[in-house]
Amino acid sequence: MYVDNDSVAVAHSREILNGNDRAMAIRADLRDPASVLDDPEVNRLLLLGLGEPMAVLMSAVLHFVPDDDEAAALVAAYRDAMPSGSYLVLSHASDRVTQANRVGPAADQYSRTVAPMKLRSLEEVTGLLDGFEILDPGVVYCSQWRPDPEDGPVPADPLPTACALARKR
Ligand SMILES: C[S@@+](CC[C@H](N)C(=O)[O-])C[C@H]1O[C@@H](n2cnc3c(N)ncnc32)[C@H](O)[C@@H]1O
Repeated sequence: MYVDNDSVAVAHSREILNGNDRAMAIRADLRDPASVLDDPEVNRLLLLGLGEPMAVLMSAVLHFVPDDDEAAALVAAYRDAMPSGSYLVLSHASDRVTQANRVGPAADQYSRTVAPMKLRSLEEVTGLLDGFEILDPGVVYCSQWRPDPEDGPVPADPLPTACALARKR
């Protein structure tokens, strides 16, 4: 189930998923958990309420919730709807500054065109994961997510993104 508040993103997703009855996209606002969790298609597809563990991916979206308390409350609202043993995959634009980094201008551009966004540090992203057990290798930059041994030193990330895999206790 893909959720996005942009009608164009949802239309394209539906086009891609046309004919697939095991996946679909809805238009809804992440900041209104009830509109997502009470959606009939979400309930039909995810069989919410059966108590089976699931995986929720909040991929490159929470930085569009600039207020820290609101972001934490949202993660908690979705967490409360997830059965124990479910997984949360999180990726989040980070404030890490490197020489190769274009994150400042990219964030400004997003804030002007998509929605106000907030870059968060690894510690701030960790703070969003209350009630979850953070699994190895912890909250790290995506480029440091289990690199293969032959990858050598991890190169500077042009758009540093924090990521984490966590399990609901
Ligand atoms: C960087 S894209 C990531 C898309 C997708 N999650 C992925 O990882 O491929 C960010 C998406 O978040 C959507 N978005 C921004 N604010 C949102 C909100 N409040 N509720 C739902 N979607 C939102 C945007 O429309 C955009 O499609």
